[in-house]
Amino acid sequence: MKTDLQRTVLASVEDAVASERDGAHAMERVVAILKNEMPSYTWVGIYLLEGNELVLGPFLGKPSPHTRIPLARGICGAAATEKQTIVVDDVNTDPRYLACSLETRSEIVVPIMTGSRVLGEIDIDSDRPAAFGADDKTLLETVASLLAAKLEPERTQ
Ligand code: SME
Repeated sequence: MKTDLQRTVLASVEDAVASERDGAHAMERVVAILKNEMPSYTWVGIYLLEGNELVLGPFLGKPSPHTRIPLARGICGAAATEKQTIVVDDVNTDPRYLACSLETRSEIVVPIMTGSRVLGEIDIDSDRPAAFGADDKTLLETVASLLAAKLEPERTQ
């Protein structure tokens, strides 16, 4: 079940991913749509997997000190290693958490996958505690699958 807002956002994302000429532009558009349309999404970024590191691509929000995250570190590393979405309602109680901003209270990390291969992930922080519910998870997993289809042909090395 999606809210009207999520339906609108998903339609914008589908349009952006279909119309942009490559994965890099599609990622930038998706980050902007999510940041601008979803009020509780304070920081929105996409990391791409390069070897054993997640490398920060497009993002909106305060600059993060974590531009390269080894797979063994952070909530980001855990989501890529476990190949599943991780939702953290209170980042201050999660020992894996790597802080980006002192205001951040909750986080969701959604792997971008093609089959069982992780290409990257969508990382979103909120200044609100427990900002991410089942609707956000469903929306963002759909967005991740659209991005995976766009990125996969460019990352088949
Ligand atoms: N909080 C993430 C690090 C990335 S910043 O939030 C942008 C983590 O724990 O992996």
